[in-house]
Amino acid sequence: MLTIALSKGRLAEKAIMLLENAGYDCTAAKDESRKLILEDEKAGLRFIMAKPADVPTYVEYGAADIGFVGKDTLLEEGRDLYEVADLGFGKCRMCVAGPVDLKDGKLDLIPNKRIATKYPNITRAYFEGVKKESVEIIKLNGSIELAPLIGLADCIVDIVESGRTLKENGLDVIETVADISARVVVNRVSMKMKSSEIKPMVEKIKEQVALL
Ligand code: PRP
Repeated sequence: MLTIALSKGRLAEKAIMLLENAGYDCTAAKDESRKLILEDEKAGLRFIMAKPADVPTYVEYGAADIGFVGKDTLLEEGRDLYEVADLGFGKCRMCVAGPVDLKDGKLDLIPNKRIATKYPNITRAYFEGVKKESVEIIKLNGSIELAPLIGLADCIVDIVESGRTLKENGLDVIETVADISARVVVNRVSMKMKSSEIKPMVEKIKEQVALL
């Protein structure tokens, strides 16, 4: 039996579709009830429906063998697991964004800048680790674009998909931190102990991704 952690929402639907196309019976996962564990003994699969940010935790601790999760969450959570496939969907960018007049290097001129984000670890790693700059990070839980508009922060670090939210709020991308997409992750012990089930699944997933 393989336990698969799915990120509740759109990513879960796409992951289920991909697994079905790869030849796995995912009828159990399509149950529209509020059950959080969906098991199909015959198919040998058990799905757990987790909050996206918790998927890496379930996989690291072995509560799930495999997880489908965004690279943004993996970078933020920094868990010890194998990242085995890039699914090529859920594509977006992790960006530093802010008022248009901070583009072209002007953001760099602000000392001790305040940065609002849902991703404090990614933000710290980028500014302190990569840019060698000390910053004040303000953790928010959503609508991050509000922060520079209302004077809470100089800029933000957030996901940009279409760019519409930034544009409609008079903001723009200043720097790209990382390219994001959905990934498959595997628990380190499961990879060894259940390799006869996991390796073929990963191969079939990769074959499907190549067809997309
Ligand atoms: C995300 C992200 C941006 C927006 C980017 O927010 O935080 O606000 O989507 O998408 P766009 O570039 O296509 O406009 P989400 O909708 O998850 O809500 P949140 O503000 O609560 O984080």
